[in-house]
Amino acid sequence: MAYSGPFQPGDRVQLTDAKRRHFTITLEPGETFFTHKGGIAHDDIIGADEGTVVVSQTGGQYLCFRHLMVDHVLSMPRGAAVIYPKDSAQILVEGDIFPGARVLEAGAGSGALSMSLLRMIGEHGELISYEIREDHLEYAEKNVSEYLGGHPDNWDLRLGDLTQVGLKDLDGKPVDRVILDMLEPWECLDTVAEILVPGGVFMTYVATVPQLMKVMEGIREKKCFTEPRAWESLVREWKVEGLATRPEHRMNAHTAFLVWARRLADGVVAPRPQRRARK
Ligand SMILES: C[S@@+](CC[C@H](N)C(=O)[O-])C[C@H]1O[C@@H](n2cnc3c(N)ncnc32)[C@H](O)[C@@H]1O
Repeated sequence: MAYSGPFQPGDRVQLTDAKRRHFTITLEPGETFFTHKGGIAHDDIIGADEGTVVVSQTGGQYLCFRHLMVDHVLSMPRGAAVIYPKDSAQILVEGDIFPGARVLEAGAGSGALSMSLLRMIGEHGELISYEIREDHLEYAEKNVSEYLGGHPDNWDLRLGDLTQVGLKDLDGKPVDRVILDMLEPWECLDTVAEILVPGGVFMTYVATVPQLMKVMEGIREKKCFTEPRAWESLVREWKVEGLATRPEHRMNAHTAFLVWARRLADGVVAPRPQRRARK
């Protein structure tokens, strides 16, 4: 799979027509894609630069770009809800996912976050993804392999329940980062405490306020993490057209909350957070 340069056979290409409708095709020499404005020969696209315009048999114009990871994530088949790109971006930066990191995530779901994590850790990193449901694991495997052009060697996708996992399952080597996206992450806190290296970052993604309260309390009770932080990210698109410049009317107002904490060294008691006395 190429991510830049002229189009090659096997590339997933997004064609956009004048009405901003998208069509995604996988380039194969000799193939034709049929639109309501006639066929487009794949050979007319192969070898051309991205951002080119291809013309169908009856004169329809289509702008051609490779499918970006966000396009793939938002259009791929899914068994479980995916982490949206605005939240994956927060996880990568606030979770301090670095090249070469050993990261554990659960559940793998549809594989959306797995893809971003794999990109960020690079070929020298390692991603271990647990998924309890076989059907979801199959979605993750297919979606990730399709986008990355095969199953990456540094991705260990495992069928299993994270609550049952301990250091022994990781060859006794702790991980640098743990990211959870599941219904009941508080059930996994013993596992996280056991497998996360001192100083390691733990993040979890929860959709509702009761989940948020429960996981925050659970983290505090464990007494082996820093005081957890919680936040959400809101992204509002803008229409920018002369005097009509304004925020878009519609937005995704809620996806989920992000929770963040770091593993303390064993046996350490963190200083109690001081709250300002009320006047
Ligand atoms: C919302 S989905 C994850 C989506 C994924 N982060 C993505 O971006 O595509 C939650 C997944 O967690 C899995 N799950 C729930 N509890 C689990 C556990 N204890 N161990 C492993 N996987 C679990 C569910 O089967 C489900 O597929």
